[in-house]
Amino acid sequence: MTAADGARASVREDPAVPTVPRIVACPDGPIVVRGDVEIVDDRGRPVPRRRRTVALCRCGGTTIPPYCDGTHKANGFSTAGC
Ligand code: FES
Repeated sequence: MTAADGARASVREDPAVPTVPRIVACPDGPIVVRGDVEIVDDRGRPVPRRRRTVALCRCGGTTIPPYCDGTHKANGFSTAGC
């Protein structure tokens, strides 16, 4: 078992995880992912996930890609044109 497998297993075993995944595009912020969704990089390799709810950066400013680190607030990211 790899670290990524372990991360996915812990997400799946959490009874609080909704059975139907939910993805929410936050105004002026990240994409929030709740539920059992595998996150992979640009080569299809699993990205470790340790929480049942994660926020994916869409401003491009994060220091911990693919996850949001809150930098969108400092760089003035806006979804007004999206
Ligand atoms: S969306 Fe939050 S750091 Fe990019």
